[in-house]
Amino acid sequence: MKVLVTGNLPKEVLALIQKEHQVVFHSENRPLERDRLVAMVAGREGLLCMISDRVDVGLMNEAPKLRMIANFGVGFDNIDVGAASERGIPVSNTPDVLTDATADLTFTLMLAVARRVLEGDRITRAGQFRFWAPMHFLGQDVSGKTLGIIGLGRIGRAAARRAKGFQMEVLYHSRRRLDSVQEKDLGIKYCDLDTLLGRSDFVSLHVPLTGVTRHLIGREELGLMRPSAYLINTSRGPVVDEGALLEALRKGVIAGAGLDVYEHEPDLTPGLARLQNVVLLPHVGSATIETRTNMGLRAARNLLAGLRGEKPPDCLNWDAVGALQSIEGH
Ligand code: DGY
Repeated sequence: MKVLVTGNLPKEVLALIQKEHQVVFHSENRPLERDRLVAMVAGREGLLCMISDRVDVGLMNEAPKLRMIANFGVGFDNIDVGAASERGIPVSNTPDVLTDATADLTFTLMLAVARRVLEGDRITRAGQFRFWAPMHFLGQDVSGKTLGIIGLGRIGRAAARRAKGFQMEVLYHSRRRLDSVQEKDLGIKYCDLDTLLGRSDFVSLHVPLTGVTRHLIGREELGLMRPSAYLINTSRGPVVDEGALLEALRKGVIAGAGLDVYEHEPDLTPGLARLQNVVLLPHVGSATIETRTNMGLRAARNLLAGLRGEKPPDCLNWDAVGALQSIEGH
């Protein structure tokens, strides 16, 4: 069958797909422009897409032969899964393999913003490190502080496990509350969102982007945080109202932010990049050689299973697709 891979993936990933299918792939290290994506997907049965590709009704209409969509990423807000289900197309993502890398980056951002790592790097490189002084360049401790985790999926839990090593108190707020044994195992305490915001020194976001989580953190929520607290976002940009965040950072409503994702990615809200109390990364939560290879292999295995007519291991809509197939079969 004919497969389109929209990103430049490790060789072993492409080789795995090429064993069974004819592959066309986008070899540049940048997203495919929309018109090229639309042109290239036409006539393909399989699509291995990136989180930067918008896979919507319009795109699916251009690819009437499409039988499987495998996303290279755990977040799948770029895909209209409902529209895929209506067309009987299984959709998959890549859970598990990027959990540790993303949780590591959460701590990278916490440490970097609280200890002013990038500011320090800038002045040192500029030849402005001229003396040591006791009250010079002070940041804030991370160890022993309170971490508030919003969204306790795989990555949220991995962040909680890391927090133990920093002797942090961990609060969490999530759609589903764990039972008391699980909470005890992880050493975390459930609380409502407002309490978490008011009590945490670091608030870290680990929710998927949905209609419910869009702008979950806005002016009101930022106003509940402590003036000494930091906001960390490695989930999806639109979970935070970036205009409200900019205002809060400028006015000292909170101490700072560590961001890997942006509301209008890849664009930043004007003014954000001029602030000293933010650390800004270019969406690299899962960007390690090992993790990106594992994501590719996982996406490829999902794609291959779907094209064989089998249930992809990480299928997001198998029930809906299966139901449609059984109606059509009757
Ligand atoms: C994902 O997989 O959703 C990440 O954001 C990619 O790094």
